[in-house]
Amino acid sequence: LATIEVDVSSIEPGMSITAKWRGKPIFIRNRTPEEVEAAQGVPLTELKDPIARNANIPADSPATDVARSAGESMENWIVMVGSCTHLGCVPLGQAGDFGGWFCPCHGSHYDTAGRIRKGPAPQNLAVPTFEFISDATIRIG
Ligand code: FES
Repeated sequence: LATIEVDVSSIEPGMSITAKWRGKPIFIRNRTPEEVEAAQGVPLTELKDPIARNANIPADSPATDVARSAGESMENWIVMVGSCTHLGCVPLGQAGDFGGWFCPCHGSHYDTAGRIRKGPAPQNLAVPTFEFISDATIRIG
């Protein structure tokens, strides 16, 4: 399907689901305030990949937490393609040294904004085109 609509009303803070879009897993996570805060507190100079990699904003946008998320006032939501930017394994959620995602294939650690922080992956997890079409529904694609 070119686009999918996902009901996120039952995803409590700290929980995530994996949807399927164009044959790929899509991670949708409702981050806790602590997880958002942790990501906001990281200086951009510490990032291996300083680019947002978010299809919804200009291609050269820096990888701030808000630029990685669903945006101002929706910053708790993060939507990403669940494919490690190293060789495409599916990372595990709520795992790794930075509390975000961990790819067990070769040990890439992503933070709570899905930004690569350690390991061989070269880029942040990609944010696909998406939008909230209601308070509880996300359209992806
Ligand atoms: Fe994820 Fe290699 S595929 S670390």
